[in-house]
Amino acid sequence: MTYRSIKLIARPKKEITADIFSITSQDIPEPKDGEFLIKMTHLSLDPAMRGWVSADTESYIPPVELGDVMRASGIGEVVESNNAQFPVGTRVMGLLGLTEYALSNGQGVNPIPKNIPAEAVLSVIALPGITSYHGVFDVLKLSADDAGKTIAITAGAGSVGSLVGQMAKNLGLTVVGVAGSKDKCQWLTDELGFDHAINYKDTNFVEQLANAVPNGIDFFFENTGGVAQAPIFERMNAHGRIAVCGLISEYDKETPDPGPSWLNIIKKRLSIQGFTMPDHFHRIPEYGQALGSMLAKGELKYRSHTIEGIESATTGINLLFEGKNQGKLIVKL
Ligand SMILES: NC(=O)c1ccc[n+]([C@@H]2O[C@H](COP(=O)([O-])OP(=O)(O)OC[C@H]3O[C@@H](n4cnc5c(N)ncnc54)[C@H](OP(=O)(O)O)[C@@H]3O)[C@@H](O)[C@H]2O)c1
Repeated sequence: MTYRSIKLIARPKKEITADIFSITSQDIPEPKDGEFLIKMTHLSLDPAMRGWVSADTESYIPPVELGDVMRASGIGEVVESNNAQFPVGTRVMGLLGLTEYALSNGQGVNPIPKNIPAEAVLSVIALPGITSYHGVFDVLKLSADDAGKTIAITAGAGSVGSLVGQMAKNLGLTVVGVAGSKDKCQWLTDELGFDHAINYKDTNFVEQLANAVPNGIDFFFENTGGVAQAPIFERMNAHGRIAVCGLISEYDKETPDPGPSWLNIIKKRLSIQGFTMPDHFHRIPEYGQALGSMLAKGELKYRSHTIEGIESATTGINLLFEGKNQGKLIVKL
């Protein structure tokens, strides 16, 4: 029996195109002593993949080597095992790659409960959830003491941003989400309870933002860069805090956009912190438990955007960069 994997065979010149990948077919391997075989069921597509396919060796994680299976996190079920800790039938999650089957010795692979839908795991407990949780509680250090203060979130309707907004709302903050369509903005206010949602593509975006934050902005969760960044930055209050999680508008650009003036950082005594989750993967059990409990209590809503079949990943990834994903982008195998 054979299975398919997606391998990286070239680096993109600008945006990701399907021809940088090759879909290969190979025999399903036999697990050796200590190993187990996983049949993947759901794969996660994430904006970070744009960085992983570049040749940048200075980033927080090494690039995917040409010829290797494309890095991706995913969920699967153990179907053959020579490892007592991962018996047949165990559901697992890990950075197992864009592949229909994966062999593992357990390193970096975590067992996950079977009673939570895979979509909920990938949307809330996995990368989007731990990123939101870390950004909200460890970087921005939000607590109930911040009730009444204002947070602005770019890519507010995305996997990370939508969870950040709900966590902040649950602490009593005024939440302003920025998103790229009327539908997404409506979902934020009508379904998730954001106080304001503003479409950054509207010509009067700056005016709408000014009206939404009459008392300024205390916290900024930055996911995008681009047109929303400067108007939000200019409205930061004294001692404001900014978590720089992502800059998706810049991932395809050869030259980064000029950043905002540092003068405001002094005048407003701002704290600005970038972060990447691989530094904090050791906290996954702690974060996973907290997120699972928020999910069980109905404190976090999510939506997932599912595409089907491993081959859909090679072009599907671009839904993220075109803003066409409505929630966590997942490949169902
Ligand atoms: N630091 C970390 O460890 C970490 C971990 C996970 C994610 N991230 C970052 O967090 C951000 C969100 O990731 P996600 O997984 O939650 O993705 P997502 O928000 O679910 O999807 C990406 C969204 O970005 C928006 N977007 C795309 N191009 C844009 C542009 N030029 N200007 C403004 N918005 C644009 C689109 O929404 P609109 O329709 O609203 O434009 C798109 O739906 C990304 O920057 C990602 O790299 C960082």
